[in-house]
Amino acid sequence: MAGMPVRHLSPELLDQLPASDPEAIGSRRDLARINAIMFQAAIMCRRLRRDLQRPPRRILEIGCGDGGFMLAVLKRMRRHWPGGEIVLLDQQDLVPPPRLGAYAALGWQVETVTADALVWMEQSPSTGFDLVTANLFLHHFAEAGLTRLLAAAARLAPVFVATEPSRNAAALAATGLLRAIGANAVTLHDAAASVRAGFAGQELSRLWPGGQAMTAREGMVGLFTHVFSARSTPPVLHNEI
Ligand SMILES: C[S@@+](CC[C@H](N)C(=O)[O-])C[C@H]1O[C@@H](n2cnc3c(N)ncnc32)[C@H](O)[C@@H]1O
Repeated sequence: MAGMPVRHLSPELLDQLPASDPEAIGSRRDLARINAIMFQAAIMCRRLRRDLQRPPRRILEIGCGDGGFMLAVLKRMRRHWPGGEIVLLDQQDLVPPPRLGAYAALGWQVETVTADALVWMEQSPSTGFDLVTANLFLHHFAEAGLTRLLAAAARLAPVFVATEPSRNAAALAATGLLRAIGANAVTLHDAAASVRAGFAGQELSRLWPGGQAMTAREGMVGLFTHVFSARSTPPVLHNEI
C-alpha cells in the first residue's frame, strides 16, 4: 500500500480508559457514528449473505464493544435469520442491559462474556458456533496474536467474517475530518491509530490456518474498510454426490 507498506501498532486510548470515563463514553458514541459512516454493518451483512449457506443459530462476536454493532447487523438480517444464541465477548463489560431486550426482540438470546478474546477462545471447549465475527477488532493484534486468534476462530466455527480498517493514505487523511462530526480527542487518536494498524492486501489470509487456499475472500470495500472472510471447512456443494 503506497505510503503505508507495513502495519504500525500503537496502544489505543479507549482500551486504557475505564468504561465509566466520560471521554470513553463519548468515544464509544463516536464509534457508533463512525460505524455508520463506514457502512460497516451493511458491508458485514453483504459478506454474511454471500458466505453463509444457511442461517447461523449460534454466533460468537469478539471485541463486541457495547453490542450496538452486532445489533445493527442482526436487525438487517432479521428477514433471513430466525434467531438463536449469540455470545458477545469483550475485555470490558460494556453491553447495557436494556440492549439485551432489543436482541431478544429479534429472536437472539445473548450471553455476555467479559474476557480477553485470545485467552477465552483458546480455552473454550465450545465447538457449537456456526459463525465468528469481528468488527474493528483484529487490528488490535500484532502478527503473533493474530495467528493464534485466527487459529482459534477456525477451530470454533466453520465461518469467520471480519470488517476492519483499511490501511491506506486516504483513510488516514479522513480520520482528521472526524473533528467535523465533533469526535473527541480519544476518538481522533484511536481512529488514526486504527488505520495505521489496519490491513491491506492478503495480510490476514496469509495467517489463516491452511493459508489462502481455504480463504473465501479478502480485500478493500469502499475507501475505509478491509473485509476478511474465511472458512475452516470447505463449503458443501449441493450438487455433490
Ligand atoms: C474499536 S472497539 C470496536 C467495538 C465494536 N466491535 C464496535 O464496532 O463497536 C474494539 C473493542 O475491542 C475490545 N478489545 C480490545 N482488545 C481486546 C481483547 N484482547 N479481548 C477482548 N476485547 C478486546 C475493546 O474493549 C473494544 O471494545
